[in-house]
Amino acid sequence: MLTILIANQKGGVGKTTIADELAFELERRGASVSFITTDPQGGSVHETDDGDEERDWRIVDTPGVLADALPEWCEAADMVLVPMLPSPRDIEPTLRTIEVARKSTSAPVAVVVNQYNPYGVLDRQLAEYLAGEGERVIAKIPKAVALAQAAAGGCSVAELRNGRHAAEAFARLADGIEAVLDGGNI
Ligand SMILES: Nc1ncnc2c1ncn2[C@@H]1O[C@H](COP(=O)(O)OP(=O)(O)O)[C@@H](O)[C@H]1O
Ligand SMILES: [Mg+2]
Repeated sequence: MLTILIANQKGGVGKTTIADELAFELERRGASVSFITTDPQGGSVHETDDGDEERDWRIVDTPGVLADALPEWCEAADMVLVPMLPSPRDIEPTLRTIEVARKSTSAPVAVVVNQYNPYGVLDRQLAEYLAGEGERVIAKIPKAVALAQAAAGGCSVAELRNGRHAAEAFARLADGIEAVLDGGNI
């Protein structure tokens, strides 16, 4: 079983959305997925399940606060994903979260830039800045109203007609995770 922890001490960056859609994407690939949310505010489509160790993957969604338990959660992870928005005010909490993760685990830590606009100057500069800092940006998820609609409807964005673009980004995220955990690079 491989555990993917999704964490950023900042709220509203897309942790829960990414946790849900990553779980759906891995299931579409035929894998069995266990879902855990440690966020008391919840909000995910998936509910915390029995944590069956026999499953292929475990996805762990976390709350948007500097949780005392973050180091412990990171220790149990095979990979840590840190979602952030392409906004200057997300840089500091994101780098702090990455620092805690790196102190707690030798597992790979990667950034997911959420609500990314490929034509936005700030968005591109942020991706370049992170790369310059040596941070791995494993995926860029577009801003898509279909993601909010899917969450409201309790389904994956891939099931919505206007969700294809976002679904493709989650497929690339899953490809990237598989490549990193296979020991390859991205
Ligand atoms: N890529 C996106 N495009 C459009 N809306 C998004 C996107 N990602 C997240 N959202 C919306 O932003 C809000 C916050 O996302 P959420 O996943 O709950 O963040 P967090 O779990 O980090 O607090 C939700 O209403 C969600 O539907
Ligand atoms: Mg959340």
